Amino acid sequence: MGFFSKDIKTMNDLFMHGLEDLYYAENQIAKSLPDMIEKATNPQLRAGFEKHLKETEGQIARLEQVFKLLDAEPKGEKCPAIDGILKEGKELMGEIGDEDVMNVGIIAAAQAVEHYEITRYGALIAWASELGRGACVPLFKASLAEEKATDQKLTVLAERRVNPQGEKTSEAGKKAAKGAASMARRSSKRQAQPAAKAKRNGAKKARRRA
Ligand SMILES: [Fe+2]
Ligand SMILES: [Fe+2]
Repeated sequence: MGFFSKDIKTMNDLFMHGLEDLYYAENQIAKSLPDMIEKATNPQLRAGFEKHLKETEGQIARLEQVFKLLDAEPKGEKCPAIDGILKEGKELMGEIGDEDVMNVGIIAAAQAVEHYEITRYGALIAWASELGRGACVPLFKASLAEEKATDQKLTVLAERRVNPQGEKTSEAGKKAAKGAASMARRSSKRQAQPAAKAKRNGAKKARRRA
């Protein structure tokens, strides 16, 4: 974007910027997934990433179809948001020294990527419809469905804590699970406190009225 001029003036400019942004992002994600596959030790997680790498390659091809429909050359625009999300995930993987904790960490990092993609496809679908570029919409929607399905599968794995039967739960994994459980208990206690206070105040008022 120019320093003295603003390059995005119309909805169409914004749409093209978003498209180029997502084309860059999908390419960066395709480059990052092999590293996640390598680091994931849970077989389901690894298989899920392998499947999603193939889907991501298909999503790149779909975006290229969109460019073609618009008579434009496929072009990527550097997106600092996806760069940051992927960088953070990579740094996190470099800092974890336990297999089970690594799987949990990778799931969270991957979900941040999926959520980013879900918002971007959502915006492009809305803008394409607004601009009368309906032919692009099914292509975006097909990729959006894959991103949402991947996110849901990751949620299921996260909820099972990756290691459901506790076949092999490390000390660090147990500590992390215990910490999360006690945090959840503390927060539900905090939420319950105002309700209990309101109930007590209500009872006091009722006594005063009587
Ligand atoms: Fe994607
Ligand atoms: Fe994705």
